[in-house]
Amino acid sequence: MKKYVVEKYLNEEEIVLRIKELAAQINRDYKGKDLILVCILKGAVSFMAELMKYLDVENLNIDFFQASSYGSSTESSGIVKVTKDLDISIENKEVLIVEDILDTGNTLNYIKSLFIGRQPKSVKIVVLLDKKERRTVPFVADYVGFDIPDEFVVGFGIDYAEKHRELPYIGIVKFIE
Ligand code: IMP
Ligand code: MG
Repeated sequence: MKKYVVEKYLNEEEIVLRIKELAAQINRDYKGKDLILVCILKGAVSFMAELMKYLDVENLNIDFFQASSYGSSTESSGIVKVTKDLDISIENKEVLIVEDILDTGNTLNYIKSLFIGRQPKSVKIVVLLDKKERRTVPFVADYVGFDIPDEFVVGFGIDYAEKHRELPYIGIVKFIE
């Protein structure tokens, strides 16, 4: 594996502050409604755990979903395989998908279409990080934590080869010779 360092990019305080703002927006939009939060494993675990602490809706349920895209680990292929499906039915429910990073858009595009096929009342997306310039399929998230440049990031649940998920901040992976 190539040598690298992780450079701090967003600190814990600013991440949590932004998540509280997102929660306030979500609380306004879902006031008096029931909501199912769907965490996309594994990268969104820390984000969802933080976000749900500040949610105040009528009735909140959580579930987990995992999909893997075929192909290399850094380039999304567009072909997605479900490795952990939802436990609860989303039919006629308000669903909010919680994802770590929106990159090419392939993964969320696939998951959103799959969920819509199950006839929920609504499906919206909240992402912590959005790399808008990387998009290959037109896809817009309903709530975005931070717009970030085309850099490989880790921490706050996000990994590089399954490492660094535990970091309380978000850092940029810088490869060194
Ligand atoms: P998309 O299908 O290209 O939008 O893929 C998004 C997924 O790729 C995210 O859920 C992450 O799992 C992964 N990903 C994209 N960018 C990064 C990154 O900078 N660090 C770690 N994982 C990333
Ligand atoms: Mg992911």
